[in-house]
Amino acid sequence: MPHTPVWFMRQAGRSLPEYRSLRAGVRMLESCRRPDLVTEITLQPVRRHGVDAAIFFSDIMVPLDAAGVDLDIVAGTGPVVAEPVRTLADLDRVRLLDPAAVSYVDEAVRMLTAELLDKPLIGFAGAPFTLASYLVEGGPSRNHTQTKALMYGDPQLWHALLDRLADITLTFLKVQIGAGVSAVQLFDSWVGALSEADYREYVQPHSRKVLDGLADAGLPRIHFGVGTGLLLPAMAQAGADVVGVDWRTPLDQAAKQVPGHPVQGNLDPAVLFAPWEVVEREVRRVLAEGRSAPGHVFNLGHGVLPETDPTVLTRVVELVHTLSAR
Ligand code: CP3
Repeated sequence: MPHTPVWFMRQAGRSLPEYRSLRAGVRMLESCRRPDLVTEITLQPVRRHGVDAAIFFSDIMVPLDAAGVDLDIVAGTGPVVAEPVRTLADLDRVRLLDPAAVSYVDEAVRMLTAELLDKPLIGFAGAPFTLASYLVEGGPSRNHTQTKALMYGDPQLWHALLDRLADITLTFLKVQIGAGVSAVQLFDSWVGALSEADYREYVQPHSRKVLDGLADAGLPRIHFGVGTGLLLPAMAQAGADVVGVDWRTPLDQAAKQVPGHPVQGNLDPAVLFAPWEVVEREVRRVLAEGRSAPGHVFNLGHGVLPETDPTVLTRVVELVHTLSAR
């Protein structure tokens, strides 16, 4: 590539008026099951911003819904699970994923790769810990108290749950890979709530099962979480190729912690609300810090916030391309 590649987590979604009008009256999970909508929503930010990759429009809860978990994605709240998973009997309700139950994902990925030609389509899934946090809490949570209570209180059930989630995630990602995605990102958004020791004991084996299970496919595996400044080496060792970094950790520091790994990130999504001079200064800093890694994919440090002015995102793409042109 003649410049540093750039895309944004949550580039598709509520920051775009064209997304809001397409989604009017359609529930989130329903939109994920419709290949025509998925294709159009995935392409919207590619057309508008000229980003270097598309990210498949779906949600981390889609494979759990397809595996028989009764859940909804509520606007302004997030995923809500009807009956939280806290006992062995509850775990029986989380079935393995039959690839045929997500045939709409296969169909949408095929439609997209045909439209995108050479531009990469990034597939994704939620990592076992982050999926478990929604299943055990029953919804979004600040302190993950029920999740940690299960993790510390019944390690055997915990590991059985995470093993099941790893299997589901692996199946979901293999469907996307089989249909033609060029890279995958495993989101462990909330794993920064754990210490490194607990990460290694309770989470890493399960994330490794997913990432190692994709090694044969030979495509880049990106691994990202929020607040993971102290977990980056352990997350890289879980089997990531590219390590996603949030805005709290400068990319040069991150690069030192994960030698040999390209990094992805990490402009603070809130900086996009600051005056343009500040945005420009911060983009320059992120690019400069990213140069110490063996590769840099420019991104935000977490997803695009819904109130973001999309014209600022387009300017950021242009700026990254101009400043990094070689
Ligand atoms: O553009 C993209 O990045 C692709 C689409 C995408 C969505 N969800 C669409 C979505 C991706 C990659 C996700 C992943 C996801 N979902 C994560 C991991 C990424 C992260 O941000 O850390 C998590 C934790 C979820 C769970 C989830 N789903 C949350 C927290 C929310 C937001 C709740 C809200 O309304 O504020 C959702 C719903 C969701 N997923 C929306 C979108 C566009 C908003 C729903 C809407 O438009 O009504």
